[in-house]
Amino acid sequence: MTLALDKDRIVGVIGAGSMGAGIAQVAAMAGHPVRLLDAREGAAEQAISGIGLSFARLVGKGKLTAAHSHAAQARLLPASSLAELADSGLVIEAIVEDLAAKQDLLRTLEALLPADCLLASNTSSLSITAIAAVLKTPSRLAGLHFFNPVPSMALVEVISGLASDPQIIDRLQETALAWGKTPVRAPSTPGFIVNRVARPYYGEALRLLNEGATDSATLDAIFREAGGFRMGPFELMDLIGLDINLAVSKSVWSAFFNDPRYAPSPIQQEMVAAGFLGRKSGRGFYRYGQDAELRTPISVPARAMPPKPLIFADGALAKALGERLHERHLPFQAAGSSPDGRVAEAGSAVLYITDGRSASERAARKGVSNTVLVDLALDYGSATRLAIATAEQCSPAAAEAAAGLLQAAGFAVSPLADVPGLAVMRSVCMLANEAADAVYQQVCDARTVDLAMRLGTSYPLGPLAWAEAIGLKQVRRVLSNLAASYGEDRYRVSPLLARKVFSRKSFHA
Ligand code: NAI
Repeated sequence: MTLALDKDRIVGVIGAGSMGAGIAQVAAMAGHPVRLLDAREGAAEQAISGIGLSFARLVGKGKLTAAHSHAAQARLLPASSLAELADSGLVIEAIVEDLAAKQDLLRTLEALLPADCLLASNTSSLSITAIAAVLKTPSRLAGLHFFNPVPSMALVEVISGLASDPQIIDRLQETALAWGKTPVRAPSTPGFIVNRVARPYYGEALRLLNEGATDSATLDAIFREAGGFRMGPFELMDLIGLDINLAVSKSVWSAFFNDPRYAPSPIQQEMVAAGFLGRKSGRGFYRYGQDAELRTPISVPARAMPPKPLIFADGALAKALGERLHERHLPFQAAGSSPDGRVAEAGSAVLYITDGRSASERAARKGVSNTVLVDLALDYGSATRLAIATAEQCSPAAAEAAAGLLQAAGFAVSPLADVPGLAVMRSVCMLANEAADAVYQQVCDARTVDLAMRLGTSYPLGPLAWAEAIGLKQVRRVLSNLAASYGEDRYRVSPLLARKVFSRKSFHA
């Protein structure tokens, strides 16, 4: 017998905003009669007509048959009072993100609904344990955290509060599966899986902006064209809404009792205060509508390729540089293994991959003034842009030669100020560190965190798989060097990551 909710049981959805409407659509498509309720008059009806338009689009694209669409539409009805949900087998609330409002609603519902009706909250940042605490039977409530837009995002986090009944969690997981979703389970901890592990993607980018590394258009281009991310962090924050993104950051930070690892950004706070909320307000990191500007990333102007550069034998960048120069019939000398991790020598410049120290520090410690650091790329073979940072001791001619070599190999080169860890490297290491800590702190296992991040955020790789591709030793070195560079607890290494470095075992073993 399947544990999933029978298809003939009614699903009640409360809150007909973007999430409630999406959940109602998915439940109706899965075959359930659905009752949609909103406190605002007419909102449920309006949402149901919106779902009709969405069905029509799906039929137009051939993703849904007309018969299926009509049947699903007929299963969707608005409700005008909580009493009309009394026959439901499952009620999911997706109302405003406010603890007291959710508690009030669920307390009232509990009195109306039969004991076998499953209760779920779509909260993205509140504690399921705290919401459930006001119920007579707190074991009835669990989290069912969908992602926006619900019909197209596969992931659902199934969240258990401290009092949740494991059997209800099993039933919700099976129900999500029967609705075509990919459910992952996690206990009610700050940010659950995705909203917690994703924090550094925004946090590090905001810090880079704050430190004058470069501008937002250049950082976005670096994350897309070198990092392989579908959207850069700033265009993504503009899409999500800066107010929503800041609220989640603040909520995770305060739920961890102000752990500096999650500290929100003053830049973002100021922008929200100004009403620069992103696309929805016409202005965020970028301007929209008539004022929209061209987003041109900063690139080093074309430089000459230095004569006969030396390419060393080790590492992904060296290999890709050799291949890319070879394909372009450009001359270079292939050297053996490098004595100190250098990737290439171009003119008087020495190129290394960033290890979390500034180029100036590395130049001083190695006695190589003309040090140029290169950022991480998801795949140096296919990346179209790379970020670099030059030591303050580096001569302008050496910096030009380094850029000339990378340009000759077909990369656009974005210059960053000499910030520790550059952009992609430091962000990916922090994502991996957060994923490792989520596993270490029993939120979920390694496979689940990678799956949740790929499905919930569309990252090109799960953070732990990515860390293993970089090399866990290198990731730990970057983090330790960042911690030393900033003197901040924010960059402390997850004990699990350190353990994997010592044991040489995979997270996924
Ligand atoms: P929204 O603001 O678009 O919609 C909320 C709806 O709830 C409104 O139509 C409002 O009239 C209604 N409402 C408020 N109080 C009510 C009450 N007591 N009874 C009945 N209806 C009430 O919000 P959205 O974005 O749909 O979010 C809803 C929930 O889903 C929140 O808890 C949010 O944190 C969560 N969530 C949001 C995501 C997003 O990307 N927007 C992603 C995942 C979860």
